[in-house]
Amino acid sequence: MKKTVLVSGGAGYIGSHVTVELIEAGYDVVVADNMSNCDMTCFEGVKKITGREDIPFVKMDFCDAAAVEDLFGRFKIDAVIHFAAFKAVGESVAKPVMYYKNNLGSFLNVLEAAQAHGGCNVLFSSSATVYGEAEKLPVTEQSPRLPATSPYGNTKQICEDILRDTVKATHAAGATGAINGIALRYFNPIGAHPSALIGELPRGVPNNLVPFITQTAIGKRECLSIFGNDYPTPDGTCLRDYIDVVDLAKAHVVAVARMLNGKMKADYEIFNVGTGRPVSVAELVNSFEKVNGVKLNYRFVDRRPGDVTAIWAETSLANEELGWKAERSVEQTLASAWAWEKHIAESNKK
Ligand code: WQD
Repeated sequence: MKKTVLVSGGAGYIGSHVTVELIEAGYDVVVADNMSNCDMTCFEGVKKITGREDIPFVKMDFCDAAAVEDLFGRFKIDAVIHFAAFKAVGESVAKPVMYYKNNLGSFLNVLEAAQAHGGCNVLFSSSATVYGEAEKLPVTEQSPRLPATSPYGNTKQICEDILRDTVKATHAAGATGAINGIALRYFNPIGAHPSALIGELPRGVPNNLVPFITQTAIGKRECLSIFGNDYPTPDGTCLRDYIDVVDLAKAHVVAVARMLNGKMKADYEIFNVGTGRPVSVAELVNSFEKVNGVKLNYRFVDRRPGDVTAIWAETSLANEELGWKAERSVEQTLASAWAWEKHIAESNKK
């Protein structure tokens, strides 16, 4: 029997890539999204890539407890991957109540409905932001979580804790309603599907580096500002661990399989999902220019408040336990990001 995976926030950037990989791995997928930060472009792209017109899509808000309960009643869900959340760091500083209400509320509703329907496997989309400015690099899953510097980051920490506590309590309570949990801590997801049919579609001015680069290259933005060249790093710009979104999506497939096949070593597990390779902002910009043969207009400006100097992952736990490893090079990923930006520009012309 095919297993069914619910992907909350499945029409968004990472959710759509994960949906493709799940379907290609043989799962049935239910996509649910309130479309608050995306349109149907990626969902339509998912259908094209997979050749599946029949993927169930439910437009709903995970903050609506009755709607979540109803969803779990309609489908027999074997695992949930929870993406439905707000994700803009700066906006979370300006609107903390909105962030806590949405990001915690939606997750609590998922856990409540999952328990009420006899238990479930829950994969939570966490972030390397939980490590803050780490003293020792690369960070392992055992590295301390430092106090979050934004409400967004805090919601990731709190949701991890909610999952950990729920897993513990439901297992202690006995067989029915037990929740197994995995938190995947993503580093910096970038790039797009090689088909260029799905990718990141930021609304308004992008906050993240790669969409800003591609929009500058295509002429939507005049100039990329590189935030700070006086960091204590080899070239003075920040170091990050940029992970290809398709590689990232594949990590979800193996993590879900681990839960469904009873391969977990604990009822709640955490994995870093990165490449283990630090890349500076300047290096990324240079690679983008080189691999795509385009000249990018950029200048150095002051540091962006809240940025950490450097963060990258120790990936051996995911490599060994999940049997997963990032495969695509930064160059391949930057080529895919550029192909996607050009695809959007072409579609907008039509
Ligand atoms: C990367 C580097 C910037 C834009 C954030 C969240 C994290 C995660 C991913 C999100 C930094 C520099 C950026 C620009 C620049 N979650 N930069 N000019 O801040 O590492 O991580 O996104 O959903 O939780 O914190 O990613 O892409 O914003 O920045 O120079 O216009 O690029 O200073 O060094 P970040 P980013």
